[in-house]
Amino acid sequence: MLLTVKYAPKKLADLLGNSDRIEHIRQWMLHWLSGKKRKPLLIYGPPGTGKTTVAYALKAEYDLDLVEMNASELRNRARVDRVLGASASAGSLFGRAKLILIDDADVLAGRTDSGGGNAIKNFLAESPCPAIVTATDIWDKSFSGIRSECEIVDFKRINRLSVRKLLEHVAKAESLEVSGETIDAISQKAEGDLRAALNDLQALGPTARVHERDIFEMVRGIFKAETYAAAREAISGEIDYDLIKLWVDENIPAEYETSQDIAAAYDSLSKADIFDGRIRKTNWQLLKYSIDLATAGVALAKAKPYHKFTKYNFPGYLKSMSRTMERRAILKSIGTKIGARVHGNRRDALDYLPLLKEFGKKHAQDLMEFYDFSEDELAFILETSVSRVRK
Ligand SMILES: Nc1ncnc2c1ncn2[C@@H]1O[C@H](COP(=O)(O)OP(=O)(O)OP(=O)(O)O)[C@@H](O)[C@H]1O
Ligand SMILES: [Mg+2]
Repeated sequence: MLLTVKYAPKKLADLLGNSDRIEHIRQWMLHWLSGKKRKPLLIYGPPGTGKTTVAYALKAEYDLDLVEMNASELRNRARVDRVLGASASAGSLFGRAKLILIDDADVLAGRTDSGGGNAIKNFLAESPCPAIVTATDIWDKSFSGIRSECEIVDFKRINRLSVRKLLEHVAKAESLEVSGETIDAISQKAEGDLRAALNDLQALGPTARVHERDIFEMVRGIFKAETYAAAREAISGEIDYDLIKLWVDENIPAEYETSQDIAAAYDSLSKADIFDGRIRKTNWQLLKYSIDLATAGVALAKAKPYHKFTKYNFPGYLKSMSRTMERRAILKSIGTKIGARVHGNRRDALDYLPLLKEFGKKHAQDLMEFYDFSEDELAFILETSVSRVRK
């Protein structure tokens, strides 16, 4: 299960950060529930700060009927009328009060062909129900219509201390062996995005079960080894080999002092990478050569052993995580755009990717226009493979 789902706040009070804004949102909801109308809320701010979550927390806390609508559904008169049935408005005596959620409206309003922004604006202007619109960026011209219909609430990034506290809590609850150093690094990297922070913590999962102390020992074992056998024996147990490579990569310049040693070690490691590239294309027999190169190859790169104490550094592999973060962001916007066209949700929409990829090979321009994909999104679709998406 995704940590972001498992540890998603269930009540308003569980949300971290933005406490004054959250109180404002609660008052707005109570206002509606007491039978008084108020403008829709437009909640905007950086990703992973709780904009969507706050709508779900309201639903749970006030037992609301939460209805998610996207721009194309809002243009469908019959659908709108159905949703806004007689007993729908908040404060009604009959049935549960409704809360409309128009999530990620900026992605949809930016669509060139469709006037998605207008559909949302028109709906908001006459909505008899409380409605929440979320967006990351609202300052585009195409968004001014929506802006003028709403009470605007700006969410700020979550401060690093709160991010850290959440990660510590989750790591403990999940019995993950993660050092304070790692938690710090993830918190910093997240830049106030709790989704990114939790996902990065989850990505550590398999390795976090190995003590970091053990990894230190293995890395030391590789660097200090003077024989092939000693270097190979340095790694043992259920260890993520990619992680070992990252540690070795990071620490070659810490251990080795002469430029010849350093160059020879990196040379061996880059050969390991080449083998790994082939392994990923299913030639698993190559793995042993790759491991040889990354362990013994690096160990024997030195002209003579360094009898010194080296303080090994935590690898900069959070760098590689930022790539996953970019990927997640792009997947999200692609999913939202497809979802709008096929009337599905973001996650199911991604099932269409392999199909779109095939189609896009010959009809890239049509694909871009139909879904309003950007160049980057198109490139991503054409490059992407199903296994990468499913990860
Ligand atoms: N304020 C918060 N307090 C606690 N957890 C949070 C908070 N904000 C986000 N999270 C965690 O991150 C996940 C994603 O949050 P959410 O979907 O609400 O972000 P968002 O602001 O809507 O981001 P986006 O702009 O990408 O849609 C949540 O499921 C939850 O696990
Ligand atoms: Mg959201």
